[in-house]
Amino acid sequence: MGFDRQLLETALKSGRRYTYLPFSLHIFESLPSTNQTLWDLLKQGAEPNSVVIATQQTAGRGQWGRQWISPTGGLYLSMGIVPKLEASDSYQLTLASAWGIAALLRQYGVSVGIKWPNDLVLHGRKLGGILTETKVHNGQIIQAVIGVGINWANPVPDTGINLESWQASQPIKAISCLEMLTSTVLLGIQSGMECLCQEGVSVLLSRYLDLLSNIGEQVYINNLLGTVVGVNAQGNLHVSLETYDTNDIKTPEIYVEPGTISLGYRESSVSS
Ligand code: BTN
Repeated sequence: MGFDRQLLETALKSGRRYTYLPFSLHIFESLPSTNQTLWDLLKQGAEPNSVVIATQQTAGRGQWGRQWISPTGGLYLSMGIVPKLEASDSYQLTLASAWGIAALLRQYGVSVGIKWPNDLVLHGRKLGGILTETKVHNGQIIQAVIGVGINWANPVPDTGINLESWQASQPIKAISCLEMLTSTVLLGIQSGMECLCQEGVSVLLSRYLDLLSNIGEQVYINNLLGTVVGVNAQGNLHVSLETYDTNDIKTPEIYVEPGTISLGYRESSVSS
């Protein structure tokens, strides 16, 4: 399946009424990983705002060292950004990207929610994921790569969903092609970064929480039952414990780091 650069450029320009493109696009048929290729290109002097797109990946990288299976038909892209952010706040890049992409897809009638911390979900199933990688110097992020994989027309497991088959059951097919989805994702990341940089992390977090499907979900942490009540600026899940052992835990409020627990998939409670 080919990728039409001209179609993408037209969609990008009409999406934000650009007269010029704010990204430097590198489009490939097949790559091991778009994140890896973008890092390689940056090392060779590519512009920091470069974007790498591939129609398939042979060694796609997922969160927590997992593999991201990437057959033809899916969307695989990586965007370079140079945020003014401390390394300890790096998770804000993932939160901003997740919110920006979900919010823009929702403008097209795709009722996407966010599953903590970095999953895009549709009808309780995984539509896509985000992998942020950073290069840090003296505690500051000097370059970041935001990698996004979205199920467009590729086969998915039982817990997944692809956008093309979901749209087939809808009255209107607002996202007409892979290039339009690509443009929506790129502009979504950009709008998430603008929200973070111009309006600040508190505004971003409240918008992220509005789309978070896990709010109110009951979870067990170390055999203690709790309820998800939010996410903090480091990307930690805020859980209010309902039962707790006063000998071990002094407060019923705890913050769980990304990657420590895995939340299941379920019907989204975010309204469309
Ligand atoms: C997740 O585990 O949910 C995040 C998956 C991110 C996959 C994308 S596909 C494009 C980019 N290149 C990679 O190697 N990974 C990311």
